[in-house]
Amino acid sequence: MTIEIINHTTRPTKIRNYGTSRYTDLNYMESEWDAVWRKSWLLAGLVSDVKNTGDYFVFDMGREQILVTRTASDSVQGFYNVCQHRGNRLVSNERGNATNFRCAYHAWTYDLDGALKIVPYEERFAAGVPCEERSLKKVHTEVWDGFVFVSLAAEPEPLLDYLGPVVDHLAAYRFADMTLTEDQTVHHRCNWKAVVDNFSELYHVDFLHPQHRRMVDCCNDTVHLFENGHTGLAVPGATVNPRFPVPDEPTDIQSAQLQGLGLNPDDFNGRVLEVRAAVQQRKREAGAANGVDYAEFSDDQLSDVWQYNLFPNVILSFTPEHCWVLRPRPHPSDPQQCYFDKLTLLKLAPEGAEHTGHSRPERDVFDHLAIISGEKTMTDTIDQDIELLGGVQAGMASQGFDSVWLNDDEMRVQHFHDALDDLIAPK
Ligand code: FES
Ligand SMILES: [Fe+2]
Repeated sequence: MTIEIINHTTRPTKIRNYGTSRYTDLNYMESEWDAVWRKSWLLAGLVSDVKNTGDYFVFDMGREQILVTRTASDSVQGFYNVCQHRGNRLVSNERGNATNFRCAYHAWTYDLDGALKIVPYEERFAAGVPCEERSLKKVHTEVWDGFVFVSLAAEPEPLLDYLGPVVDHLAAYRFADMTLTEDQTVHHRCNWKAVVDNFSELYHVDFLHPQHRRMVDCCNDTVHLFENGHTGLAVPGATVNPRFPVPDEPTDIQSAQLQGLGLNPDDFNGRVLEVRAAVQQRKREAGAANGVDYAEFSDDQLSDVWQYNLFPNVILSFTPEHCWVLRPRPHPSDPQQCYFDKLTLLKLAPEGAEHTGHSRPERDVFDHLAIISGEKTMTDTIDQDIELLGGVQAGMASQGFDSVWLNDDEMRVQHFHDALDDLIAPK
């Protein structure tokens, strides 16, 4: 493992063993609401969902809902999804297009910029209606590479400052040019941080995800630790895990990669460790094929799987051709539950996205038991994680377990919790 500390002067070598109340305790959840969710930039959704004037979506975030829309002046703006008459939820649809927002209760109506425009029987308000004051409450909203972020803070630092060097690291991938092909949410019975932890280390991969040894090399990963609690990971792909015997023939996963690039897997019998370089070279030769401009990527990026975690709750796992946006959201009132979103984005050739009439997939929402029963899947790997995480949460709630004990491979877990501890003093 290579570790790069970016804008972070001290490598956290100290073994940490933070306690478990942060996964179970209502008071901690309350502190987290104030110190984390009200202060951080939060990934609310995709710019592609607010492409046209009046497009909107609702971002459900713990006890708050944020309505994000494209205003008449063509900017993307978030508002608290709350009518300013008597507090009714203003918009109940998950997504849509509107010319204005009309409350179902007494029909107060706001334009796309959130301005209160219509108050039925306005003359019956003896004190009048100060429309300016009673317009929708805005939240800070910024866009980065196809993603809409919101902040509930009064004066957040600019989003790009918050993300820091991550922005440059990921510039070649151009997530904004990718197309949403699947939208899933699983309701899980674990704290949202158990999901972040799970996607912050490779220690478990050899044991929980045996299939990974046929596609990635988890021994030679590169870890980045950034300011503000963000972390990054690069894992060599199109190869095998050298901790295990190297097979004579390319694995099924390598073979599929080779065939997808027009190469014959048989040519790599006895040369399995050369597949990665061949994949890189083939993509380099392909140039701007399949809607991906490979010229912008380094050789490693052409073959490798990267995963960047944006504090607090966004996990991006990606290659030049795809990105998974994984986002555990806290439950409004129970620290032992969360909602875990997975958005699948693909870089489709232009004719794939436009001319075949690609339409946005509906969000599929299901319980974690549907994963366990096999009725639903979020891919084999994530299913394995989800199945396991209920057991982790149960352990966190047990009086037989006080604190975690982390190794070097879990440095990103530690970095994430260090950032949390900077915001909330550990109890
Ligand atoms: S609460 Fe919305 S109009 Fe009354
Ligand atoms: Fe995993």
